[in-house]
Amino acid sequence: MPTFVLSNYRLIFLLPLLLFSVVVAQTKGNISVGSSLTAGQDNALWLSPSEDFAFGFHQLDNDNFLLAIWYYKLTQTTTTVWYANGDKPAPRRSKLEISADRGLVLTDPQGVQELWSSGKIAASVAYAAMNDTGNCQLLDKNSKPIWQTFEHPTDTLLPSQIMEIGGSLSSRTSLLNFTHGRFIFRMLEDGTAVLNTINLPSNHNYKAYYVSDTLNSGGQVIFDTFDYLYVLRKNGEKFNITQADDAVSTTDYYQRVSLEFDGVLILSSHTKNPSDINQSWTTMRTIPDNICIEIQGELGTGPCGYNSICTLHSEERRPICNCPEGYSLLDPNDEYSGCKPNFLVGCESSQDQEDEYFMRELPNIDWPTSDYELFHPFDDDSCRNSCLHDCLCAASIFFGSSVLVNCILVWKETCGQFTYKELTEATNGFEEELGRGSCGIVYKGETESSGPIAVKMLDRVFEDSDKEFKAEMNIIGQTHHKNLARLIGYCEEKQHKLLVYEYLSNGTLARFLFGELKPSWAQRIQITFGIARGLVYLHEECSTQIIHCDIKPQNILLDEYYNARISDFGLAKLLALNQSHTKTNIRGTKGYVAPDWFRSAPVSVKVDVYSYGVLLLEIICCRRNVNLEIGGGEKGILTDWAYDCYMDRKLDVLVENDMEAMNDIKQVERFVMVAIWCLQEDPNVRPTMKKVMLMLEGIVQVSVPPTPCSFTSIN
Ligand SMILES: *[C@@H]1O[C@H](CO)[C@@H](O)[C@H](O)[C@H]1NC(C)=O
Ligand SMILES: *[C@@H]1O[C@H](CO)[C@@H](O)[C@H](O)[C@H]1NC(C)=O
Ligand SMILES: *[C@@H]1O[C@H](CO)[C@@H](O)[C@H](O)[C@H]1NC(C)=O
Ligand SMILES: *[C@@H]1O[C@H](CO)[C@@H](O)[C@H](O)[C@H]1NC(C)=O
Ligand SMILES: *[C@@H]1O[C@H](CO)[C@@H](O)[C@H](O)[C@H]1NC(C)=O
Ligand SMILES: *[C@@H]1O[C@H](CO)[C@@H](O)[C@H](O)[C@H]1NC(C)=O
Ligand SMILES: *[C@@H]1O[C@H](CO)[C@@H](O)[C@H](O)[C@H]1NC(C)=O
Repeated sequence: MPTFVLSNYRLIFLLPLLLFSVVVAQTKGNISVGSSLTAGQDNALWLSPSEDFAFGFHQLDNDNFLLAIWYYKLTQTTTTVWYANGDKPAPRRSKLEISADRGLVLTDPQGVQELWSSGKIAASVAYAAMNDTGNCQLLDKNSKPIWQTFEHPTDTLLPSQIMEIGGSLSSRTSLLNFTHGRFIFRMLEDGTAVLNTINLPSNHNYKAYYVSDTLNSGGQVIFDTFDYLYVLRKNGEKFNITQADDAVSTTDYYQRVSLEFDGVLILSSHTKNPSDINQSWTTMRTIPDNICIEIQGELGTGPCGYNSICTLHSEERRPICNCPEGYSLLDPNDEYSGCKPNFLVGCESSQDQEDEYFMRELPNIDWPTSDYELFHPFDDDSCRNSCLHDCLCAASIFFGSSVLVNCILVWKETCGQFTYKELTEATNGFEEELGRGSCGIVYKGETESSGPIAVKMLDRVFEDSDKEFKAEMNIIGQTHHKNLARLIGYCEEKQHKLLVYEYLSNGTLARFLFGELKPSWAQRIQITFGIARGLVYLHEECSTQIIHCDIKPQNILLDEYYNARISDFGLAKLLALNQSHTKTNIRGTKGYVAPDWFRSAPVSVKVDVYSYGVLLLEIICCRRNVNLEIGGGEKGILTDWAYDCYMDRKLDVLVENDMEAMNDIKQVERFVMVAIWCLQEDPNVRPTMKKVMLMLEGIVQVSVPPTPCSFTSIN
């Protein structure tokens, strides 16, 4: 090699020139001891004489490289046939050297850590050679191979390559991730060639999904240059793993056998014709024929992971993985990661599955190893019903005459994630505003899958609370109660946070109560019971206790039958997470906020009881708590006025123009007394929502309430 000596002075002028001419130090055929390659430094490669194969650093991402062999002429995509450091990507400027006594050694940029090496070698290396078969060899001075990549295959076999007993191919994790994956193809001591899945990271081998019929007779797996793969028996006979009736020749075609990341062993070919060089690989044979059916081990996941549906691509014979309705990918970026239900399956999630789930039919689908009960004789309906009433059951299989019917449990309203784009379309660009709340604006929308929806766009105050947001949404998503607005999904993209609720046709309680058409006394009683039941559920009956923190008529929605549905639960808590309970940061609404917020005492469910007390008086009287236009004075604040009326035994003035209520004054009195109990300054004196409900219903006697004290001081 000629040597240039450059002075600093000249280098300054040469540098720009170097940028324009790509310096490629390609070495062909033989490579001398002492040669090296540096990752990302130049484009140096070691090529085979025909230039069919290249040995060098293949760039994985911005700063990581893979020492590999690939087809040099197939420039569209890099098809590797061998790689050294799949589990340990090499950073830029890592260096590969050929040394006489250590063979190939790959070290990190600092030259400190060894990332990979060809291992112990028996003789001194005289030179290396990149062979036209795709084999990279280290040879001694008599040109005898000491080490070769053909004896250390990764996931690919090339024509003429032999896999001896003890040898194996290991799949990678995904198309572009070269870490060891879950599948392995091995030539075993017992003479068989087998394909099986392994458990990572323990490497335990699960039951094989392909076994060659060569027990006690097989010796080698050979990829014949006439395009077929076979086990050579010790007696010289061949057992064909793949047939080769439409064989293509190695002169005109590249051929390879690769264990793909989805577990399929494929034999594929690619034309060498320069004018067709941009075509893709053609699958000639796949083992097994149908991997979705063939992997049936008693343990371990199939090619698609748990709970997913595997279908075979009709031409490529490779698995396609999909989640059943109501399920979503475990890892959203990995189609093969398996699926998880979008709801809780288990005996703690709900008492009565029948209310919340239904069975969806999936013809010709089976989860082969998950059965735990067998009923006989049994019909279709009893099969479904027994699953619905069994809290451990997620799927049931039914054999009708000859058809296999599998039913899976599906949550009635799946809590999905929507994309921002979908919601923009569903709301026609956030066109129709339904209302404004303390946390954001609500828009009307419509989707094909969910029908009419209400989309709440949350204020920017939520921006910094990503993790809590997800956690809280999961809690809210699992609440099911007829007096709660049902969250059917949410969207979280960049600065946008949106909640998707079912659409409730009769708007907010505020509009109903304080509007032109006042609701009847009977309707109001129904509404007070409904809100109380919803709060009992939030406080005592769902898996994680939810304190609403912002109970007021604007947050109560009414469905078409005027049933009360509490909305916005869980949000105030989310806001409170990153806020000390100082006066300025209180998230409740003036007039409904319990005095507890202003003290250092921890906030409990009793803040909701307080707000419920205010709300109860508003429902009784059909007026706002604070209304300074009404004659001023003591009447301006309902909580004060109602207490005075109660003490003066003049409850009729509270419901003056309301004949229905006047005629039911005993019930009015009971409700007012309950409200006063709720408004007690000391949270410990306030009853629980359960007790409130029992008192409202008249099941528990209401005793005379004490003075609520200085409740006006907070307004
Ligand atoms: C590689 O070196 C060996 C041994 O010196 C020699 O026989 C062979 O011809 C060389 N091959 C090429 C392509 O230079
Ligand atoms: C290439 O490798 C094969 C073994 O894979 C060997 O038979 C052949 O002689 C090698 N060719 C050269 C030129 O070294
Ligand atoms: C490759 O897969 C492994 C194993 O799943 C994972 O740990 C690693 O982060 C992945 N690498 C990249 C770059 O995604
Ligand atoms: C195996 O395949 C080869 C190549 O197609 C063929 O010649 C041979 O007859 C096959 N052997 C068996 C047992 O089918
Ligand atoms: C193959 O694709 C590359 C890049 O798209 C293009 O430059 C080249 O001309 C193509 N070669 C043929 C033979 O079509
Ligand atoms: C309440 O909903 C019902 C059914 O959608 C509708 O007929 C009725 O007009 C609504 N009432 C009000 C006050 O919006
Ligand atoms: C609260 O939020 C602010 C930014 O909004 C952040 O800087 C701070 O670390 C957060 N505090 C806690 C305790 O999470």
